[in-house]
Amino acid sequence: MKKLLILNGPNLNLMGEREPGVYGNESLDDINRQIEQKGKELGFECHFFQSNWEGAVIDQIHEARNEYAGIILNAGALTHYSYAVRDAIAAIHIPVVEVHCSNVHAREEFRHTSVISPVCAGSIVGFGKNSYLLALNAFEMLL
Ligand code: DQA
Repeated sequence: MKKLLILNGPNLNLMGEREPGVYGNESLDDINRQIEQKGKELGFECHFFQSNWEGAVIDQIHEARNEYAGIILNAGALTHYSYAVRDAIAAIHIPVVEVHCSNVHAREEFRHTSVISPVCAGSIVGFGKNSYLLALNAFEMLL
């Protein structure tokens, strides 16, 4: 089975609790279980990591490069300003699919910019937890 890393950045550990009107009521663990299940059905072995620390997210991107077939990344707010996360993605040769649960383009102006989009294989935004599940379909196509 091809291995995928599901990588979540700052504040995504509070899914289900934080701004439920925007991010829904399900915890990250609940969502991860659904990703794991659908991943299995599509032939992927999914591994999960979340950190509120930029450096830890970057370390995971580096470590994934020799171990995983691809990364599904919700970088949280790092998306909008972290050139270091962007450079980490650009430095590796496995595809990264950017996901956001909310429709960042329909929210505050600062969320309209993603500094990581240009170095990702593609982006899926605005479908709640289904953004992660759709990213699995993207990997089915990509790999
Ligand atoms: C988010 C959108 C970001 O703007 C925000 O900072 C997050 C979550 C999303 O999944 O919709 O933390 O990445």
